[in-house]
Amino acid sequence: MKMRIQIFFILSLFSSISFASVQDFCVADPKGPQNPSGYSCKNPDQVTENDFAFSGLGKAGNTSNVIKAAVTPAFAPAFAGLNGLDVSLARLDLAGGGVIPLHTHPGASEVLVVIQGTICAGFISSANKVYLKTLSRGDSMVFPQGLLHFQLNSGKGPALAFVAFGSSSPGLQILPFALFANDLPSELVEATTFLSDEEVKKLKGVLGGTN
Ligand SMILES: *[C@@H]1O[C@H](CO)[C@@H](O)[C@H](O)[C@H]1NC(C)=O
Repeated sequence: MKMRIQIFFILSLFSSISFASVQDFCVADPKGPQNPSGYSCKNPDQVTENDFAFSGLGKAGNTSNVIKAAVTPAFAPAFAGLNGLDVSLARLDLAGGGVIPLHTHPGASEVLVVIQGTICAGFISSANKVYLKTLSRGDSMVFPQGLLHFQLNSGKGPALAFVAFGSSSPGLQILPFALFANDLPSELVEATTFLSDEEVKKLKGVLGGTN
């Protein structure tokens, strides 16, 4: 009996060794084709520790823009090693009065942690219920996948937060940019949002839209 257990143990050890050739990761190859689940895999022989590290989040983003805010992403392919691993990060810098306007990530839920300042954050459910919180240093909030949400600097000084996503390519669509920063004809924007011609033209002027 004891012998049989030993043989079984040795056999199962061998089978786990043969499975060691299973692909552990899929480091992004930005030159290869892309599909909805991410980038193609770099040849594992060419993968190094540098593919699993990223140094872009130590520096504040440039907030001299219309939203007075900057999003610095740590996504694939810049952070090649997280391709396909269902995680990613970004840094949010919000100057005084800065805002990350209403937006959605079609591909991932998001969790935020405030490092500096005060951020008023919220999301709107599919039932149009609003969930709002004022967050200070050390506070976190989660934003469920696909729902419209925002982050607004509601404090006096600058604010800094980091966010993590449950996807290496969460995607981003910013609602005011989708409506007023492209060439969707103003009559259609007005008809589909109930806003006045004057308001739509003003917003297109501010955000760079045409038509
Ligand atoms: C920040 O962006 C503004 C507007 O694009 C630009 O004029 C300015 O030089 C940038 N500042 C830095 C430090 O890169």
